[in-house]
Amino acid sequence: MKLIKSLAFCSITLAWGLLFQEAAFSSNDIKLPKPVLKGKLSVEAGMLNKKSVRHFTTTPLTVEQVSQLLWAANGALPVDAISGATLKTLPSAGGIYPLEIFLLTGSGTVKGLPAGVYNYNSTSNSLVPISEEDSRMALAQAALSQLWLAGAPVIVVIAAAFSKTTAKYGNRGIQYVYMESGASNQNLYLQAEALGLRLGTVGAFNEAQVSAAMKIPTGVTPLLIVAIGK
Ligand SMILES: Cc1cc2nc3c(=O)[nH]c(=O)nc-3n(C[C@H](O)[C@H](O)[C@H](O)COP(=O)(O)O)c2cc1C
Repeated sequence: MKLIKSLAFCSITLAWGLLFQEAAFSSNDIKLPKPVLKGKLSVEAGMLNKKSVRHFTTTPLTVEQVSQLLWAANGALPVDAISGATLKTLPSAGGIYPLEIFLLTGSGTVKGLPAGVYNYNSTSNSLVPISEEDSRMALAQAALSQLWLAGAPVIVVIAAAFSKTTAKYGNRGIQYVYMESGASNQNLYLQAEALGLRLGTVGAFNEAQVSAAMKIPTGVTPLLIVAIGK
């Protein structure tokens, strides 16, 4: 009985850790450069020029560009002085923020960043290493063989822990999460334009295969794949 109780405790702790891994900063995490809060392109010009592409050059991205993109996708803003709430770059029903952002890079596709899968910790603006594998081809195959994805220098997967939102809103929370992933996607389009980068969004994929390629933990669902490059 004692053993069953300890096993149950370990599983719950592990699941909790995987789902709510934003809080702590560990020594393996890679601190990202601070996001720049002033750009050279107007929001209007960003919307005007935005375009989905399905081909990229081999020009590597910089860590600064990656930091800026991840911040746009799900970044934290300074804590609100009045409410004390931590705000993000996108709206979220009930201020719950269920989105999780994963980054996939190849060898040398981001200057100074090893290939692999990372989870973005928005609280500390850092990358939490998950795997050292360049799984871009596996991901492309999981996306119903949209093989152009494998040629992208970086791939961002917008995912979500639905239970965070449905715990408060029930089934209606499901649509809230989808709406929030759209806001994150649009932020990425605008930020990419401002950085002189291009991107392509992919929603056609096998969820289980994407989760396997990206080592996305149980309880977190991949919603959109966003391939980014020059
Ligand atoms: C939810 C969603 C899913 C999408 N899935 C795919 C996809 O699987 N493959 C693809 O090549 N493009 C995909 N797209 C990109 C659309 O095809 C693209 O946005 C559309 O053709 C309009 O082109 P534009 O983005 O350049 O304006 C998706 C876009 C969205 C918003």
